[in-house]
Amino acid sequence: MQPRKHEGTKKNGVMSYEFVNVKRDGAVEYLTLNRPDVRNAFNEQMIAELAAWASSLAEPARRHEVRAVVLAGAGPAFCAGADAKWMASALGYTEAENLRDAQAMAAMFQSLDELPVPVICRIQGAALGGGAGLAAVSDIVVAEHDAVFGFTEVKLGIVPAIISPFVLAKIGQSAARELFLTGARFPAARAREIGLVHAVVTRAVLDAEVSERVRAILAAGPDAAMAVKVLIREIRGRSPSDAAATTASVIAKRRVSAEGQEGLRAFLEKRKPSWSG
Ligand code: COA
Repeated sequence: MQPRKHEGTKKNGVMSYEFVNVKRDGAVEYLTLNRPDVRNAFNEQMIAELAAWASSLAEPARRHEVRAVVLAGAGPAFCAGADAKWMASALGYTEAENLRDAQAMAAMFQSLDELPVPVICRIQGAALGGGAGLAAVSDIVVAEHDAVFGFTEVKLGIVPAIISPFVLAKIGQSAARELFLTGARFPAARAREIGLVHAVVTRAVLDAEVSERVRAILAAGPDAAMAVKVLIREIRGRSPSDAAATTASVIAKRRVSAEGQEGLRAFLEKRKPSWSG
């Protein structure tokens, strides 16, 4: 049976799709949104492809092959959010049909938010609407100085509903109230101030800065990095006393793990741990 369009095909162990380009270099998977003519705006197929890729990465065998993901957009802009033409084609949809579309998009954002491995996001040009939402579900975001951000949905009479839990977790209610309500576009420096972006650099060094973060991730224990992602998710919004049993159990497990023991021995023996190539 032919695979469905969004399911992609496998080449040399790496998935391949129409609107999402995937490349592997060692333990790093490079995921590039690939609809540059419309500034990588999401349509139904791109959403399905991102979801299919995210679930393929969550497979246990792949967890140990891939230790970091770099998320980027082809062409002049990272991502212009939802495709206006696709949204227009949904004007005749019933509320139930819109609900089905919205649920697929919500599931895609959640699966990216919960990816087992660290995600480094590279932003040039613009990250608007869902594009800014992609920054919110990434772990480390590096943007070029001239990049413009915005939760512009209200300008179209809609709301940044699906991305709101992820964006609020990153930028907090104060900035979200202002930016969601006005739909204002803002520069990378402001995105950094509110915690959506971690580093703002010139275009000339954007790739080098992304690579530096990749190297930092590869120097961390692979299982420790994955455990950090789960830890942050599990303790988000909990009080210290409520989280105490979870945090104690997580660190106890790491200390007795082969990786935790190797890391500590390597430090004491003044050598590199076995996982750092
Ligand atoms: N959906 C569909 N098409 C889009 C799009 C979107 N969200 N954003 C851009 N495009 C298309 C444009 O219509 C244009 O198509 P055309 O060549 O057929 O005219 C093409 O992409 C290039 O856009 P342009 O505005 O000329 O590119 P730019 O590099 O000067 O600016 C942006 C890029 C992203 C800053 C600008 O396109 C923009 O502001 N887009 C709107 C984004 C938005 O409001 N998204 C929120 C959706 S909820």
